[in-house]
Amino acid sequence: APVAHKGKLIGALYLENNQVAGAFTPDRLEALNILMSQMAVSIENATLYGRQEQQSRAIEAVNVTLTKEIAERKRAEGELSRYKDHLEDLVKERTRELEKAQGRLVDLSRRAGMAEVASGVLHNVGNVMNSVNVGASVAREAVSALPVEGLTRAVALLEQNAGRIGEYLATDSAGRKLPSYLRTLGTTLAGEKRAILGNMDQLAEHLEHMKKIIAAQQSYAKVNGLTEVCTLEEIAETALAISEAALRNSNVEIVRSYEKLPPVLVDRHRIMQILVNLISNAKHALEETVRIDRKLTVAIARVDGGVRIEVRDNGVGISAENMPNIFRHGFTTRKTGHGFGLHNCANAAQQMDGSLTAQSDGPGRGASFVLRMPVEYAEQLPQRIGFAEAAEGL
Ligand SMILES: Nc1ncnc2c1ncn2[C@@H]1O[C@H](COP(=O)(O)OP(=O)(O)OP(=O)(O)O)[C@@H](O)[C@H]1O
Ligand SMILES: [Mg+2]
Repeated sequence: APVAHKGKLIGALYLENNQVAGAFTPDRLEALNILMSQMAVSIENATLYGRQEQQSRAIEAVNVTLTKEIAERKRAEGELSRYKDHLEDLVKERTRELEKAQGRLVDLSRRAGMAEVASGVLHNVGNVMNSVNVGASVAREAVSALPVEGLTRAVALLEQNAGRIGEYLATDSAGRKLPSYLRTLGTTLAGEKRAILGNMDQLAEHLEHMKKIIAAQQSYAKVNGLTEVCTLEEIAETALAISEAALRNSNVEIVRSYEKLPPVLVDRHRIMQILVNLISNAKHALEETVRIDRKLTVAIARVDGGVRIEVRDNGVGISAENMPNIFRHGFTTRKTGHGFGLHNCANAAQQMDGSLTAQSDGPGRGASFVLRMPVEYAEQLPQRIGFAEAAEGL
């Protein structure tokens, strides 16, 4: 008999009886069939129950895993938020440290800036001091060469012949030469006096320039230098005069190419410092070359937006490799150099709203430095000149 539930065959029941014939009567088979369908329901229920059990176990397992995962997430979240707090603290702390470090840096760089300015001042004073030194020794030589002994001798002769001066001057062979000797001596002494006075004036001018350099340092905080009415030509000439003795020693021909310009209102000493530095560099570049036609050119010209002052030499020149470094503080190729000059010059140019640029065709081919800056022409400033003049009259 089939074991079936809702038309689905689940199994079959096989019965056999070989002792009694006709053991399976229709009634009995009927009862059997009812029993079978009951059995099928039970089997089906048991199977369903088993399956449900399995499923709920699986769900339970998933549940456990999920719960674990959620707990893990929660823990991680807690950790993350703790970590975030920690990070925030860390960032705050680092920021404070950075702020402190920045403060220290600002302080340091301010001091370094001051040191740089101070070293610039010393450097510029040193430049002028060289000329003062040369000038002073020239004056010393001139004084020691004054023929004062001749005068003493002449006076002694006159004293020896005091009783017969007239006769001595008229008849004595030495006495006859004395007046013209004294005349020559007078002329010589007068000439020497002029030369020495000129020299002293130059020394005084150099000292004045040094004083201004130092004063400029003292007014460093004021940024703006003191402007004066003067001509650029006069500034260039003073700068050349400061370096003149040294240039003469190095056998350098000086070429002046000055465009005639009206007086300007400029920071005279700042420009002079730049030019003295550039001329000093050119002098070194010329001393290092073996060529004999050493030439230094100073050119002044009016350009769009101001003026241009060039210091050019045909000395050792600058290699393409060194070119980007020459304005760096401390860069030098000279044994006795400091590498302050050009850096200070570029700063000074900037302070006047100008610029300083360098050009060289390479080693052995000379170099050119150009200072460009805006200028106010004095003739365009009637009120201010009037004021300056009024102040001068006080
Ligand atoms: N006219 C020039 N010709 C060739 N090289 C130059 C010239 N001017 C400057 N330089 C180069 O630039 C460098 C820097 O010049 P800078 O004036 O700044 O320093 P320095 O002259 O070496 O030393 P100092 O501090 O005494 O001036 C020089 O060492 C040199 O190599
Ligand atoms: Mg220099």
